[in-house]
Amino acid sequence: MAIKTVGVLGCGLMGAGISQVCAQAGYRTIVREVDDLTLQKGMARVRSFLDVGIEKGKVTPEERDRTLANLTGTTAFEGLRECDLVIEAIVENLEGKRAAYAQVEKCVGEQTILASNTSSLCITELAGGTTRPDRFLGLHFFNPVPLMKLVEVIRGLTTSDETYRQVFAFAQSLGKEPITAPDQPGFIVNRLLVPYLLSAVRAYESGLGTIEDIDKGMQLGCGHPMGPLTLLDFVGLDTTYYIGNIMFEEFRDPSYAPPPLLKRMVLAGRLGRKSGRGFYDYRSSE
Ligand code: 3HC
Repeated sequence: MAIKTVGVLGCGLMGAGISQVCAQAGYRTIVREVDDLTLQKGMARVRSFLDVGIEKGKVTPEERDRTLANLTGTTAFEGLRECDLVIEAIVENLEGKRAAYAQVEKCVGEQTILASNTSSLCITELAGGTTRPDRFLGLHFFNPVPLMKLVEVIRGLTTSDETYRQVFAFAQSLGKEPITAPDQPGFIVNRLLVPYLLSAVRAYESGLGTIEDIDKGMQLGCGHPMGPLTLLDFVGLDTTYYIGNIMFEEFRDPSYAPPPLLKRMVLAGRLGRKSGRGFYDYRSSE
């Protein structure tokens, strides 16, 4: 079965980016959100990203128009009926994801592949909650999706060879560089990235340097595009805290345990860019 029509569940930060890259690669793309307001916000995010791309000379007006013409929004699961592949990018909650898959499975054909953009949940467990564990796998994108080249393709224990091959080729057709990652918390990238981000919080907590100096050290000393505390604000402190806890639960390795300061910042609502404040204050600039 050829993948021609792609469904995306969720049009938040990740869902909007995934919808954009699918539509930009020429797939008929249908994105589903829970209500009109959230859907319109997500679609506006795509439009604005493409407009900035035009300003930067990276996207042509024709490419923007073609991308937007390939992309439609819906609030009904029924709108995903013709999809050959549905990529789920909703909140990291097992029960919520299971409920969404049950709704999708009522509408789509038997051959439709389901993929999850989860960054922390077990693919084999998610697959087991569907009627198609052989046609289920992880497809993990990175933020900002249209700019980051990498996609992790994760096989659950039950994922068939055919599903894996098809989705790996699909990721390549988006202009991405896929890698194959194991069904273990954090896959490959977060397994390495999360302990690094947590150790930067520990370094700050123990007085190793100021926020700015820790970031400058890693940015200018190691050529990273962002320092670790800026990256934490970008990814979300709550997301990192959540992934760290899941990884600690699985591996019992203290390098994955969120430090006390991170927990307290999350409790205080300092989640990073999305809440206006994290290690840095974005309230006046955004
Ligand atoms: N459309 C098209 N191209 C665009 C664009 C747009 N709207 N906006 C920017 N670009 C292009 C720019 O033209 C530039 O291209 P060039 O390199 O050819 O000149 C390039 O993208 C970089 O853009 P900027 O120069 O405006 O900005 P920066 O140089 O600051 O890069 C960034 C921004 C790509 C976000 C960079 O800071 C970065 O790579 N940061 C790290 C991001 C990261 O680590 N993400 C992974 C997070 S972990 C994750 O997502 C997993 C999850 O599970 C937690």
